[in-house]
Amino acid sequence: MARQVPPGDFAGTSPVWLRQPDDANELIPLLWSKTARKDDDGILHVGGVAVPDLVADVNTPAYVLDEEDFRSRARAFRDGFAGYDVYYAGKAFLSVAVAKWVAEEGLCLDVCSDGELSVALRAGIDPARIGYHGNNKTPMELRRAVAAGVGRIIVDSTDEIDRLASIAAELISTGALSGPQGVMVRVTAGVEAHTHEFIATAHEDQKFGFSISSGSAFDAASRVAAAEALHLDGLHSHIGSQIFDTSGWEVAARRVLALHARIATELGHVMPEMDLGGGFGIAYTTQDDPADPADLAAQITKIVTGECSALGIAVPHLSIEPGRAIVGSSMCTVYTVGTVKQVALDGGASRTYVSVDGGMSDNIRPALYDADYSCSLVSRRSDAAPVLARVVGKHCESGDIVVKHEFLPGDIAPGDLLAVPGTGAYGRSMASNYNHALRPPVVAVRDGQARVIVRRETEDDLLASDLG
Ligand code: LLP
Repeated sequence: MARQVPPGDFAGTSPVWLRQPDDANELIPLLWSKTARKDDDGILHVGGVAVPDLVADVNTPAYVLDEEDFRSRARAFRDGFAGYDVYYAGKAFLSVAVAKWVAEEGLCLDVCSDGELSVALRAGIDPARIGYHGNNKTPMELRRAVAAGVGRIIVDSTDEIDRLASIAAELISTGALSGPQGVMVRVTAGVEAHTHEFIATAHEDQKFGFSISSGSAFDAASRVAAAEALHLDGLHSHIGSQIFDTSGWEVAARRVLALHARIATELGHVMPEMDLGGGFGIAYTTQDDPADPADLAAQITKIVTGECSALGIAVPHLSIEPGRAIVGSSMCTVYTVGTVKQVALDGGASRTYVSVDGGMSDNIRPALYDADYSCSLVSRRSDAAPVLARVVGKHCESGDIVVKHEFLPGDIAPGDLLAVPGTGAYGRSMASNYNHALRPPVVAVRDGQARVIVRRETEDDLLASDLG
């Protein structure tokens, strides 16, 4: 028979970074969107909307997006990185409404697929302010992007350079394109970013970009510069995601600028721009300590300007591509608890398993990257002593974990609402229909109003492509 661990005795079952709260009702502000707060009854309000009222309308699971928080983070990057172009990385989360907010706040947009381009165009984004990524864009996708007037296409292979050059030449000859297509060359700077292997992108042995050290980045730039229908706008480096230490960007910036200078000297082509990508980390748990955009900007700009003056070159117009750092903390996911059970652990302790009505289909990140999250009971106040819990989903996989470790009130029970903060980035965008789950809605909240901006999928959606 498992020993029920007394309150306060979680040694060995709880990770060292997880502090046992004095009051499990309290939110940790760093993890939540700016307007999130709990009232005296323990009810979570976001954007002035009581979350239990909201889910009474839309059901659970549901993503709740704090519009004011999103806009204020977008402005913080725009103003912190004044003088840069800030491209919001739509892969983190994109919908027509969000694309419009991005444009209204003065940001540009980074898309990495034809589908994301469709959303951007549907939202009426000026194509000149769109950057288009991807390591294997098809001829059809490239043609659509060029014809639509996408400002910059970030090329990733010689096959693509040749493909794009011939498409642009053809569209120039028919008058569909007025001049050379703007192109950036994706380079790998050989930086080992301190993040999960699957989200680090600037080390040598992976699929993205042209290596600086092997010389292939110089060759790719030469190839673009030689193509009459293309204009070499600059070099692009993205070192990875969920990074806190600016030393990665510093090393990358030095290596990219050295190549930038070499291209000016050897090819006689001074590129007007340079992009340092995204990857700025956010706080998922108290382990994370994100920097302020203005501080990040100050550090990165100092390196770039210092390096340019050492190389004797003009500072190129700079751009960055934050995704997670804008939308990540703006969203939380609300679930309903379905079952609670105690599971015996080695040594006689037990863990409380709390099953909710979503899981790896609405947030694959714990299963894919071993990502940590936190959560809170948001439908009532509880004075029960906190217990160490694991929140799991309803899918047929033991790795279907929503929150690996969290202290929740010991009387957590079926029917309670739990909210997981920090799910805005790559939650809905990597959601799936695994086990034929219906992907949840995204509800934007602001000034006491809730608006469904992406509706819940229906059984008809699910069966629409099943031809029987
Ligand atoms: N720019 C480029 C070229 C990228 O590849 C990415 C992310 C970004 C910008 C935005 O990175 P952010 O600022 O959001 O970290 N699905 C993973 C992350 C993969 C990101 C891929 N590229 C996750 O859930 O953590």
